[in-house]
Amino acid sequence: MIFAANFKTNHTRSSTKAYFDTLSQKIAAKKSGDKVYVFPPATALDHYEGDFTLGAQNAYPAQKGAFTGEIGLEQLEEFSVKTLLIGHSERRELLGESQEKVAEKFDFFKAQGFEIIYCIGEPLEVRQEGDAAVNAYLLAQFEGIDTGYENLIVAYEPIWAIGTGRSATIEEIASTHQALRKAVACPLLYGGSANPDNIREIASIDNVDGVLVGSASLDAEKFASMILS
Ligand code: 13P
Repeated sequence: MIFAANFKTNHTRSSTKAYFDTLSQKIAAKKSGDKVYVFPPATALDHYEGDFTLGAQNAYPAQKGAFTGEIGLEQLEEFSVKTLLIGHSERRELLGESQEKVAEKFDFFKAQGFEIIYCIGEPLEVRQEGDAAVNAYLLAQFEGIDTGYENLIVAYEPIWAIGTGRSATIEEIASTHQALRKAVACPLLYGGSANPDNIREIASIDNVDGVLVGSASLDAEKFASMILS
């Protein structure tokens, strides 16, 4: 299983350091096949020791340059970051990232050999139209994306399940991941209110290779308990 923590705009540099101290200690007991990723805010990127992969939540598709407020490849390289989230719904919806922009980022960081966790997910009104509409919506989010890229992980995160405390149902996750499995061969993560109470059930679903966790990942002990459960 893959366990990925997305801090979003939470934690400071100092609390992230304390987080890694706790997490590293706790996950020393994790199963050897399990992989842990943590995506802190850009201000907390640093050199950390431990059995996890440090990733960035976002970056601009350029080495460096005049892109106010953004970070580029040069800033990631300083901390040996080679893993990136691309296409998160919060960036698509709140920051207005178009599919074209998302695909441009994907191409740039793919050319750099980055491991990419590529996020897709439908809004509630699409889910309410049923499975066919959901699948069509999700497949459209692969437009311009090389789904055969060897360092790709796909995260399915229904927007209506993010931060709501209401995860998708087992049936919804199972049918969506089954459809995604026909489209892509890479590992498939589920994200959206995954927590210590539902992790075992989610982890047991066919075609679920891991989870991308927001709120429940903010506490190192809680996130570790999901990994160790
Ligand atoms: P929550 O776990 O808070 O629902 O967030 C999921 C998410 O968006 C992870 O990227």
